[in-house]
Amino acid sequence: MRSPTLAKTSVGKESSLLCDDVTEAIGNVPIVRLNRLHHLCQTHNLYLKLESCLPSGSIKDKNAAYLVKDAEKNGFITPGSTIVESSSGNFGIALATVGAARGYQVIIVVDAKTPFPTRRMLQAYGAKLVDVPLEAADTHGSMQIARMQKAQELASQIPGAWYPCQHTNPRNTDVHEILTAREIEMAFGGAPDAIAIGVSTAGQLAGISRYFREKYPQTRLIAVDIAGSTIFGTPPHAYKMTGLGLSFVPPNFEDKMLDIAYTVSDRLAFSVCHALARQEGLLLGGSTGAIVAAALADASRYQTPQQMLLLNPDRGDRYLETIYNPTWLEAQGIELFSSSQIVAAIAALNPVIVRGLSDNSQ
Ligand SMILES: Cc1ncc(COP(=O)(O)O)c(C=O)c1O
Repeated sequence: MRSPTLAKTSVGKESSLLCDDVTEAIGNVPIVRLNRLHHLCQTHNLYLKLESCLPSGSIKDKNAAYLVKDAEKNGFITPGSTIVESSSGNFGIALATVGAARGYQVIIVVDAKTPFPTRRMLQAYGAKLVDVPLEAADTHGSMQIARMQKAQELASQIPGAWYPCQHTNPRNTDVHEILTAREIEMAFGGAPDAIAIGVSTAGQLAGISRYFREKYPQTRLIAVDIAGSTIFGTPPHAYKMTGLGLSFVPPNFEDKMLDIAYTVSDRLAFSVCHALARQEGLLLGGSTGAIVAAALADASRYQTPQQMLLLNPDRGDRYLETIYNPTWLEAQGIELFSSSQIVAAIAALNPVIVRGLSDNSQ
């Protein structure tokens, strides 16, 4: 029988199968090899770490558990307090889960891009939704700044409210250094050749990079964003992806955290999502399509077999009305690529940032 003390876990401590509440169910998730999606899966070992298996369906469960417990420790919140955040989905859902389990009111500021199932999930957990109007969009259609301003405004109006602000909070990176990086190390008995990470707030990239740069500097860190986002300094334009991308460079992002960066179009990302469902049995979120496409483009630069770890941030079910809905795709003017077109599009994908890697592809 398991020792009762093992059930007493918290972020950063020994993991257990017995959890005191949902915030402790953020440990190891399955890591699944990709086999059939692309011929490069025969030469290289691409492993997808399914953070989508966490309780609320995304990697943001880790951030929410860590930040809320940290806020409790620092006295920023006590049961009954209100948590306000701006989120297009995952972090909002994760906070709503934690709020339900630990007795906080949760208000999530969303916008017109927030998928319908995400809204329903937030409401099912008891969160209140506040919409920013379409007129608040910037010239490229982004409502991120407007959402953050609204969250700040609400937090200042509601007595005792706390706004974690995932986009600027330096502690938003910590849980990935404490947990995610070590989980990868444990799975590989050391370090893989490369890790592919989607970027928005840069929480994952910053935390994982801190750990691997220190302990395994030879591991190639591949950063992935949606085309149209400004994080890597590429030209801004509108995009349909949620999860990836920002209309500003988040303070937790620095170029030196990555070795190589790719931006991927909505069309290629969503096409790879469909291929993952049909050829690998994995129904995952839009950013995963971009991350897999970029990792394959990166793998194609190497003749020697690469061990690659790809971080899957979320599940696909919250995108059933968008990415997996043919009517929605048609309305957006997005025609999915065929398998051979996916291969061609990945072959044509060039990095947008390459740092100190010019002589190690072989
Ligand atoms: C689906 C999805 N993918 C990728 C990311 C990027 O993660 P991070 O904020 O750690 O940069 C997010 C962040 O919200 C996300 O929701």
